[in-house]
Amino acid sequence: MTPAVEFQSVSRHFGAVKAVDRVDLTIAEGSFFAMLGPSGSGKTTCLRLISGFEMPTSGAVRIFGEDMGTVPPNRRHVNTVFQDYALFPHMSVRENVAYGLMVKGVDRRSREARAEEMLALVKLDGFGGRRPAQLSGGQRQRVALARALVNEPRVLLLDEPLGALDLKLREAMQDELKSLQQRLGITFVFVTHDQGEALSMADRVAVFNEGRVAQVGTPEDIYERPATRFVADFVGSSNVLAPAVTEAFGGPRAWASLRPEAIRLAPGGRVRGTVTGARYLGAGTRLEVRTGALPRTPSDHHDGGIAVLVPAGAAVPGVGAEVALDWDAGALHLMGEEP
Ligand SMILES: Nc1ncnc2c1ncn2[C@@H]1O[C@H](COP(=O)(O)OP(=O)(O)OP(=O)(O)O)[C@@H](O)[C@H]1O
Ligand SMILES: [Mg+2]
Repeated sequence: MTPAVEFQSVSRHFGAVKAVDRVDLTIAEGSFFAMLGPSGSGKTTCLRLISGFEMPTSGAVRIFGEDMGTVPPNRRHVNTVFQDYALFPHMSVRENVAYGLMVKGVDRRSREARAEEMLALVKLDGFGGRRPAQLSGGQRQRVALARALVNEPRVLLLDEPLGALDLKLREAMQDELKSLQQRLGITFVFVTHDQGEALSMADRVAVFNEGRVAQVGTPEDIYERPATRFVADFVGSSNVLAPAVTEAFGGPRAWASLRPEAIRLAPGGRVRGTVTGARYLGAGTRLEVRTGALPRTPSDHHDGGIAVLVPAGAAVPGVGAEVALDWDAGALHLMGEEP
């Protein structure tokens, strides 16, 4: 099957800034694809390269097999939902949703009927007569979604669409977006810097770092088998072990990642250490344990120690306690060097 979107060695440089640098991507039709990465890593620029508001410095972008080299944004069968929604404040909700159809010259009756269908789809029946100012943040977000979907895009681009919502609403919208995508079968390309959001919604995730793709894979791939130190650290703050530490912990001399939740406190365990900190997280307690072999991490998340997640209900040793740590042999995940 022809992919919905393909990047072939795509770069977009702004002077000396390599916003996007030799990126290769394949986004399957009908999939939910997440672009995950820290601020400034090139996610929005990639979306703009798909929508056509930005052109590559080099390389090729293809949509359904067609080279987009000279194709303007309005010919790409792509729509974008922006973080700030960009609704027209002086128009009713119904007129906002129908706007794209008006631009295409669809008559008033047909476009209003279509707008009502879209509002029902995003569970906003009966809200058509209101102004955006009379809606909650979550409701505005749905209007923005309906306004993009009314154009029947083959690819929907979403740039941090849930960023302005509180946690509870964000989680509810995550579930709704996912089920909407599955019902409609449209390809979603979803940008976020929230790893939980990417992991819970996407079929595939591309992790961006400084304009480059560090890894592409399923959520399980990138969480359980991170390809690089950056991915291990960014996606769920793992213990990143330097080669000497991995060796001291009974593995080969190579960079490795060891998830805090994969470590248990066990008398007679492989490694002994001292508890130097404890943070209560509700679903568990995250301990910092200083061991003889100090791990180094790129971001110093772990304060020179090993993070251990003690599940809720288990006994939590106090700061200063001597403990022994153990893990299953498979928990030590080896990583290559940074590409
Ligand atoms: N028009 C432009 N001119 C110059 N530099 C730009 C331009 N657009 C983006 N950049 C730079 O390119 C880099 C990537 O920007 P981009 O907006 O793609 O990041 P992002 O991953 O979307 O970040 P965020 O999570 O903060 O939205 C940044 O360093 C940014 O300053
Ligand atoms: Mg951005």
